[in-house]
Amino acid sequence: MARGRSAGGRDFSARGTLLGGVLLVAAALLASGCGRVIRAERPVQVTPRPVEVVEGEGVFRLTARVPYWMPGEEPGGETGEGTVAGMKAVGEAFVELLTPCFGQPPVRAERLPERGGIRFEICDTLDAGAYCLEVTREGIGIRSGDAAGAFYAVQTLRQLLPPAAFSPGGPVRAVEIPEVRIVDRPCMAYRGLMLDVARHFFTVDEVKRTIDLMALHKMNVFHWHLTDDQGWRIEIRRYPELTRVGSVRRRTLIGKDPGGEYDESCRYDETPYGGYYTQEQIREVVDYAARRFITVIPEIEFPGHAVAALASYPWLSCTGELYEVRQTWDIDDRVFCPGRESTFEFIEGVLSEVLELFPSEYIHIGGDECPTKMWARCGHCQARMRTEGIDDLRGLQGYATARVERFLQAHGRQLIGWDEILESGVTPTAVVMSWRGTEGGVRAARQGNRVVMSPSTYCYFDYYQTEDTASEPLAWGGCLPLEKVYAFDPYEGLDERERACVLGVQANLWTEYIPDFGQAQYMLLPRLSALAEVGWSLDRKDPADYRRRLARLARCYDAAGFHYARHGFGE
Ligand code: ACM
Ligand code: ZN
Repeated sequence: MARGRSAGGRDFSARGTLLGGVLLVAAALLASGCGRVIRAERPVQVTPRPVEVVEGEGVFRLTARVPYWMPGEEPGGETGEGTVAGMKAVGEAFVELLTPCFGQPPVRAERLPERGGIRFEICDTLDAGAYCLEVTREGIGIRSGDAAGAFYAVQTLRQLLPPAAFSPGGPVRAVEIPEVRIVDRPCMAYRGLMLDVARHFFTVDEVKRTIDLMALHKMNVFHWHLTDDQGWRIEIRRYPELTRVGSVRRRTLIGKDPGGEYDESCRYDETPYGGYYTQEQIREVVDYAARRFITVIPEIEFPGHAVAALASYPWLSCTGELYEVRQTWDIDDRVFCPGRESTFEFIEGVLSEVLELFPSEYIHIGGDECPTKMWARCGHCQARMRTEGIDDLRGLQGYATARVERFLQAHGRQLIGWDEILESGVTPTAVVMSWRGTEGGVRAARQGNRVVMSPSTYCYFDYYQTEDTASEPLAWGGCLPLEKVYAFDPYEGLDERERACVLGVQANLWTEYIPDFGQAQYMLLPRLSALAEVGWSLDRKDPADYRRRLARLARCYDAAGFHYARHGFGE
C-alpha cells in the first residue's frame, strides 16, 4: 500500500537486449586485453579506523584472472559447519564486490595456490571479528579469527579499491591496490542501527539497502522496529487483523505534530497509508542480513505504542472500544491491558511466531513511553494489582514485562527493552537500551544489567544535522551534527566492571518525518560512519584523521549509489 512505489511501464526486455550487447562487447574487450587500468589511490583510508595500517610502496595488480581461494570445503580443510556456511557468505560478498569492476565474477581456485592470488585463511590466534589483510605485489592474504572477520576484511578491500573501478566507462582490465598491511578488530560486540518502519514503511529492497550500508560500515545488529501506534508491519498468522486492519492508517498528519490536542488547524494527507512484511519476506531479510554477518533483532512494542494492535483487536485494550490506527505522532494513552489474561495469550502467540522468524538471541519488546492512565480506571488492571500485590501503576508494567521475559527465557531468548523498563522493577537478566541520555544505561550497568547505549543526545539520527534547520527537510527537532556523534563516549561515568556490561552502541532512525528512503539515507549518512567508528574503533578514535578519511568514504558512497548529507564535508 505504500504510495508511489510501482515500477511503472519500463521496457525491461529492451534493457535485457542492451545488457546482453554490453556484456558481449565487454567479453570481446577482455579477450583482446583492452580495457582500463585503474591506478592505486594513496594514502590508504579506511573507515572505521583499523588498529594498524602500514603502507608499502608497491601495488598489486588485480585482474579478473586472479584466482581466489577459500578454506572450508576442501578435503581435510573443514573449519566447522558454521564456518563453512560463513565462508560461503564471504565468498558471495567477495564475488559481488568484484564482479561490477571486471564485468565478470572472479574465479575460485580449486586448491590453495602455491603463491599469489587472493587467499582467505581462518586463524586460531585471531579473535572473533578480527582480521589481518596483507596486500603485497604478488597477491592478497586475508587471515581472520572467523568468517565474520573475513567478511570485514572484504569490506576493507572495498575501500582499498579505487572508486573509479566501479564507475561506468567500459570494463576494467586491471585495478591497482596499494601494498599495505592492515590489522583490525572491533572494540564493541554490538554495533547497531534501528529502523522504524511503523511511522513510514520501507520496502524489502529498501531494508536490504539499509543492511548493505550497515555492512559497509562493519555494523552487525539491525534492530527492526516493526510495530507502533501508526502501523503494525509484520504478518502474524494467528492474528490476521493485525495486518489487515493494523497495517493501514486512514490518513497521515502533514507537517509538524503540535502535540496535545489536535484542532482544526491540523492538515492531513487523506491517502490511506500502509504496508507490511509477509513472513516469507521477513525470512528473506533475516537471511540477507545473516549473509552480511548482521543479526536482526525484531521489536514488538509492549505494553505501550499499541494503537495499531488495539485497532485490530479491541479486546486488547482496557475499554474494548473501537479505535483507528493512529494518524498523528504524539505519545498515546491507549495501551495494552495487562489486567486481562487474554492480553498475555495474545502477546505470547505473537512472539511464538516472531521467534520462529528471528533466530536472534535478543528480542526487543519496547517498553518505552507507556502512559498508565487507562490502567488506573480499569477493573481488570486493578484486580491484577490486588491479586499480585502490586502497589503502583508502574509496577504493573514491571509485572507485564517480567511475564514476557519469562516467556522469552523459556524459549531460550533474552529480553531487551528501552530504559523505562528500569522504572518498573527490571529483572537482572533484561538488557536495557538507554535512550533518555546515558543515565539509564549507567544505572543499569551499576546494577549488573547488560546495556546498549543509544542516547538521543548522540544517537538519534532523526534530529537535524545542523543548526540551520530552515535549509533542511523537516525533522523531529534537536541538533545532532556529525562531530557530536563522533564525540560519543559510551563508557563515560563507568568503571571497568560496569563497562563490561555495555554490549555496544546503536543509532536510531525514527521515521515520523522521514517519508522516503532517499531522506532516510540522507539522515543516516555520513553520521552512521561516525557511530560505526565509535563502536568499532573506540580505543583509536581520532577526529582529525576521521575527517580526512570521510572524503574517501563519500566516494565509496557514490560508487555504491548511496545518498548522503554533505554537512561533514564543509559544503
Ligand atoms: C524512544 O525514543 N521512545 C525509545
Ligand atoms: Zn486494563
